[in-house]
Parts: sequence; structure tokens; C-alpha cells
Amino acid sequence: MNETFTIAVDGPAAAGKGTISKALAAHFDLPHLDTGLLYRAVGALTLTGTDPVTAARSLTADDLGRDNLRTPEVAQAASKVAVIADVRAALVDFQRAFARRIGGAVLDGRDIGTVICPNAKAKLFVTASPGVRAERRYLELTGKGLDITREQVLADVVARDDRDMNRAEAPLKPAPDAVLIDTSEMNINDAVTAAIRTVETKTQASR
Ligand code: C5P
Repeated sequence: MNETFTIAVDGPAAAGKGTISKALAAHFDLPHLDTGLLYRAVGALTLTGTDPVTAARSLTADDLGRDNLRTPEVAQAASKVAVIADVRAALVDFQRAFARRIGGAVLDGRDIGTVICPNAKAKLFVTASPGVRAERRYLELTGKGLDITREQVLADVVARDDRDMNRAEAPLKPAPDAVLIDTSEMNINDAVTAAIRTVETKTQASR
């Protein structure tokens, strides 16, 4: 697999992966794929009665553009469909094709460094304590006007972590060669700076 400049960013919910990945993509002028969106789109379709494997096999750009994909219900539905091997298998080719783009790409998710792009040039595992992640997600969701309590958000994050880390297929875990970035005590700028430095070090080392 030709992964000249593929950057893999994995980690649990609300650790800062999305922000870091977008900043890396802008800094290195690369396209970015939020792979969680694929699982969210499949999860959202199951909430309207579609079979998860059928949904994963027939996903369209329209499905990825729906505006309800960031809700807690869809996040839970996503992590439920993400345990199904046939759902994951249906989404592999699209992700790998994106990773192989000429010039490179940034992909973020749960299994990018371990399963989707095991040869990625730089692998980051972005994490933070459950309390810090829940507080960030709480502020994000209430900022969008959602009526939800801190306790509900923490329970959702913990349930999703548990499902993502303990599933048989592509469980959430750092690749052996991933660099860990714990953002619990970092602001966004510090986290992005640490990520850019890590990628630069990794890519220079492999030249
Ligand atoms: O990243 P995000 O929180 O949007 O992902 C939603 C869910 O999709 C995760 O909780 C996880 O279960 C699943 N997912 C996955 N593998 C990925 C990306 C997301 O299993 N590469």
C-alpha cells in the first residue's frame, strides 16, 4: 500500500481528534476524512429502520451530509453498528482509497493506525481523561442548544468507550508505533502544536 504521507489519528470520543486532524490537514495541506462520520451515517440509518449491513454497503454522499449526525443518539447508534464485522468490512475500501490519495491524507477514527492504514507514516493516539472529554462534549452539545446534563454526557462517553475498546473487531487501542498525546491538561493550541511536531519528527525520521 502506498501511504507516502498518510497521517492516522485515533482515540476515544471527544479527546480532540477532530480538531487536531483538521489542523494537521490545514498545516500539511492534505485532505481529511473523519471516519466516525461513516459509522454515524450508518447508525443514523438504522434508527430509521434500515438494516446496518445494507446501510453500510449502500452509503451515499447524501447520507454523510445529514444534519443530525452529531447527536448523542446517533453517536450511540454508531458505536453499536461499529461492532458488526460486515459493517466495518463494507467501509474499509472507501477509507483505504482515501488514505492512498496522491500527496497523502489525514484520517481520524478508532482503527486507522491499527487496521485501515497500518503503514501510515505518522500515527497519533489522542486521549484525555473521561471527565475532561465529557465536559468538552457537554459544552459542545449545550452550545448547539441540546438539552442534556453533564451526567448524561459522561454516561454516554463511558458507554461508548466501553463498546469501542472491548469489541472483537478492530477495538479502539493505540497501534504499537503510535505516539500518545494526552490532551487532558492542554489547550487546543498546545495540542495542535504537539501533533504537528510529532508528525514532523516521524516523517523526517523515515526519509
Ligand atoms: O469519532 P466519532 O465519535 O464520530 O465516532 C462515532 C463512533 O463510530 C465511535 O464511537 C465508534 O464506535 C465508531 N467508529 C469506529 N471506527 C472508526 C471511527 C468511528 O468504530 N474508525
